[in-house]
Amino acid sequence: MSWCWDEWVEQALSTLDSMKVLRTLRPIHYSSPKTPPDNAHQVFDDIRQWDRASVEVQIADSTFHTWLQGDDDQDSECQCPKLSRKLLLFSGNDYLGLTSHPAVANAAAKAVHEHGMGPRGSALICGYTTYHRLLESCLAESKNKEDCLLCPTGFSANMAFMTVAGYIGSLSADNKTDCHDGVAIFSDALNHASIIDGIRLAERQGRVHVFIYKHCDMSHLNGLLSNCTMKKKIVVTDSLFSMDGDFAPMVQLSKLRKKHGFLLVVDDAHGTLVCGKNGGGVPEEFGCANDVDICIGTLSKAVGCHGGFIACSKRWKQLIQSRGRAFIFSTSSPVPIIAAAHAAVVVAKKETWRRKAIWNRVQEFRTLTGIPITSHIISLIVGSEEQALKASRHMLKCGFHITAIRPPTVPPNLCRLRITLSAAHTKNDIRKLTFALSQCISLRESGYIYTNVTPKL
Ligand SMILES: Cc1ncc(COP(=O)(O)O)c(C=O)c1O
Repeated sequence: MSWCWDEWVEQALSTLDSMKVLRTLRPIHYSSPKTPPDNAHQVFDDIRQWDRASVEVQIADSTFHTWLQGDDDQDSECQCPKLSRKLLLFSGNDYLGLTSHPAVANAAAKAVHEHGMGPRGSALICGYTTYHRLLESCLAESKNKEDCLLCPTGFSANMAFMTVAGYIGSLSADNKTDCHDGVAIFSDALNHASIIDGIRLAERQGRVHVFIYKHCDMSHLNGLLSNCTMKKKIVVTDSLFSMDGDFAPMVQLSKLRKKHGFLLVVDDAHGTLVCGKNGGGVPEEFGCANDVDICIGTLSKAVGCHGGFIACSKRWKQLIQSRGRAFIFSTSSPVPIIAAAHAAVVVAKKETWRRKAIWNRVQEFRTLTGIPITSHIISLIVGSEEQALKASRHMLKCGFHITAIRPPTVPPNLCRLRITLSAAHTKNDIRKLTFALSQCISLRESGYIYTNVTPKL
């Protein structure tokens, strides 16, 4: 049934065409990236010293003391710190440790030497180059999609897509009172803020009905879908939830898609390059890549750079680039960032040890704590804000940079330590981490879906 979506996208395109507002991307030609040879980027077969730069950080002594005293509303001194504290970072999103990879740094340096920052302008004006095009092709291949559209950030990618979804709803049939018309968007209750804001904007175009289903609750979703008489249905979900570390039920979503014919949109911000045998992300991991119509992602997490993307069909791409305001009216990413992101994607594909390493760290954490975590995002719910801050300060004293996640990001009684693992961490790091954690919280009392722990401090 989701073939109907092709038809609706086609209708939207012909409407835009008749209004003469269909837009095309014309890359500015830079010769360097035209055919990068296979060996253009240096790759390594194991963790090296530079990888540690992505997880070893320093903070000034004054920052350390401010943090310990709990003066969280005060900014800390960051100029010329005299004494520095070394900390092991367990709160970043550089999951594969690619930010410090020589191939990534070299690609950025080479591009900056040759082109500076590249043309400054939105992609439709002059900000789109052959570097951007090359990265789009590479991401489309990785996501098993026909094409891909780069956006300035992952946030703007979600905003751009959702507003275009709203536009399709607004284009519905002549009979404006037809209750089967418009578009119905079904969104997981814990979806990322950028999806929520995108939906809010989409709603303003009218004829968009939003249904929030309980987090990962497929029978709730099925019930909502079955009761919905609207033809155009979209289900949107994070693939791996950023604050809870649990996966969307991809296989069940695929089954529901077959049953109800909705367009399946997945935000794979945290799964891209980390999950799936080839790093294609969570849909690849669960064997559902072909059932995902639109795969949105960011270049700021495992890719280790900055920017966002939407992997989709050529027709969807044309629609989003013609109507997605967050894409159209924002300056495209600088060439060195795009060159670096391309190098990172190539390296991640070749250095398969990085994916193995991060999943080994997940397994080690599971074994050492008995907590049945399923991903590299670990959410240890400790309760109140004060308890979470105490736990974070304890970890700081032990040499770990782990931030307490508090309202408004999470509800007041579900404050937590959010720990993220990286391929640049070692087994010994995990041992030290779990030992320090065991001093401040009772790890064995963990729950199943949410990892609830009791504070000891
Ligand atoms: C699930 C999810 N989607 C989108 C984004 C936004 O990505 P970006 O940081 O590139 O704007 C994030 C980042 O925090 C995220 O966690």
